[in-house]
Order: sequence, then C-alpha cells, then structure tokens
Amino acid sequence: MTAKIALMTGGGDAPGLNGIIESASKCLLQAGVELVGIRDGFEGVFSGNFRPITAREVEGIHSQAGTYLGTSNKSAVKGREAEFIAQWKKLGADGLIVAGGDGTFAALSSLGGAVPLLGVPKTIDNDLSGTDVTFGFDTACSVVADSVDALRATADAHRRIMIVETMGRTAGWIALGGGLASYADVILLPERPFSRRALVDFAKARQQGGARGLMIVVSEGASAQGEDPTVAFRVEGSPEAVRLGGIAERLARWIETETAWEARHVVLGHLQRSRQPTTTDRFLTLAMGVEVARMAQERAWGQAVVYRAGHVTRAPITELMGPPRRVPADHRWVRMAQALGIFI
Ligand code: F6P
Repeated sequence: MTAKIALMTGGGDAPGLNGIIESASKCLLQAGVELVGIRDGFEGVFSGNFRPITAREVEGIHSQAGTYLGTSNKSAVKGREAEFIAQWKKLGADGLIVAGGDGTFAALSSLGGAVPLLGVPKTIDNDLSGTDVTFGFDTACSVVADSVDALRATADAHRRIMIVETMGRTAGWIALGGGLASYADVILLPERPFSRRALVDFAKARQQGGARGLMIVVSEGASAQGEDPTVAFRVEGSPEAVRLGGIAERLARWIETETAWEARHVVLGHLQRSRQPTTTDRFLTLAMGVEVARMAQERAWGQAVVYRAGHVTRAPITELMGPPRRVPADHRWVRMAQALGIFI
C-alpha cells in the first residue's frame, strides 16, 4: 500500500516555509509517497480543506515568502480535540508533517498522540527551545539590517534619532541580530530592561560628540526598567493572544522631551516576514525538508527535525515546547555589541 503523508503549516508565516514544502514534497513524491496538503493550518483540518500536492505545483516555490499551504494563528484545538481527530481519520493519512511554532505544537499535544506527527520548528523570532536556530530568522535580520542602513541617511540628513521597532515577542534575537549587522547605536532587548536615565545620557553624549543622527533598534517586547512591555492588541482564540508593539513610538515622543534631538519611529512589522528567504534560510529549509522526508519514510513519529551544533538532526517534538529561548545576558553577540560601544 502506498504511504500517504499530510503536510500543514501553522502559526505566523516565516520565510522558508515554502522551502520546507518544496524540499520535503520532492523527496517524498520521488519515493512514491502520496502527499496531501492541509490548507490554512488548523482551520483546514476542521473544514476538511485538503488538496493533493503534486510535483508541478511545488516546483520553484522555495524562493517565495509566505506559505503555499496557507496558515492561521487564530484557531485553537482545545475543546475540539474529538472533532480534530475525526477529521484526521477522514483524511486517511499515515502521518502529518507540521511546520509550526510553540503554539502549534502545544495545541497538537492536546491530541494525546492520536495523530502521528513530525515537527519542523518555525518562527522568525528564533525563540523556540530545542533548536539552535529557526528558519526565517536570518531573513528577518536582513530586513532589519537593510532598514537601519537605509534610515541612517535620513537620520543624518535631519540630525534626528530614528527608532526602528522589530518583531520577536519576548525574545530580542531579531533586534540583536539585525541591529548588530547594521551597527546600530542602540539595541534594546526584552531580556535587558534599559535605564531611561542611561539612555538619555548616552544620546546626549553622542550629540555633544558631534553625531548627526542616531539609530536605535528596539524589540517590540523591550521595556524600561520597572516597566511592562507595550501591548498593541489581543487576538482572542490565538494560542498566544497578546500582540506586543508600540514601544518605538513611545520612545520617540519621550526622547524628544528629554533631549534636544528630534525623533521619528518606524515599525517594520510584517515586512520582516515578507521577504524572499536568504540563502542561509534556503539551505536550512532544504536540509530540514530532506531530513523530515526521511523521517516520514522511517515513520519516526513524535520527532522533530532540529538544528544543533551546526547540524540538522532529530529530537522529540516535546523539546520544542519548552519556554521561549531568550537572549542570555552574556551571549557572545551582546558582548560584541558592548565591545563596539553600542548601548545595549
Ligand atoms: O511569532 C512571530 C511573530 O511575527 C511575532 O514576532 C509577532 O509578535 C507576532 O508573530 C505577530 O503576529 P500576527 O501575525 O498575528 O500579527
């Protein structure tokens, strides 16, 4: 009997999802496995929105952002487990390959093993436990770095502080990676609440030192010491309802009252998820897709493909469900920023 494998993408999109789909699909189709795509994440399971995946359809999608299968980070499984399992049985597949984040895997864990699963960790935030890096992160950092490099021109032209807000939830990886790659003057991370006084003193000293402009990169989850992160809005029903955002604008208005600088802010938002994947992300997803296809043929259910110590390897899916992996205080990137004189 031919094996039948389903593929699904869940949660927020990340550049590289299409690379996983193309790479895994090509390997499995070549091995004679029948493939079916579940559309729009969990919503496609509940509505029975399944479609066969053919080699022709996935050809070349690796270079596109987004996900060929569609996704959703709105629908939850909790309380609808029986319905989910009934829909899964109707599909008649041997196993399900899911590219998702912590919310997706936590939701699937409530099925108690009724669906044979293979996991592919995904998030631009790079904060999943169990893997050293997630695809999409490198691309997001490139967007940040390119933006900071570009905005420096207008900051210098107007003698302004430009504040660039990045995504990342409670982890500062994108702000740190993108800020370092563009030699930002200030990098503010959720893991390192900043002193308002020290920041003002730093900005004043730079201005007195003759700087024309100043580039600040702030993670959406960052806050001043003793303060809470800025909440933008809530998405009810989402595995993680709180959406952070708004710190850059708040900082800009406050800095203008405290210093002689003018300040403007830019929120990069979903542009960080919308660019074609970088070569680094393409290699990572190509390798992960090949490995997860092998795992499907070996029926290694319950395992995830992960990246550890420079290699693509395997680990139990449960290892992806730990608390978010945040930037350690003494991380080498933090020390490099300090060595460069960046306010961090
Ligand atoms: O987790 C990925 C992420 O892009 C976060 O960095 C961000 O806070 C959130 O998703 C945005 O979610 P949404 O797509 O619902 O706006």
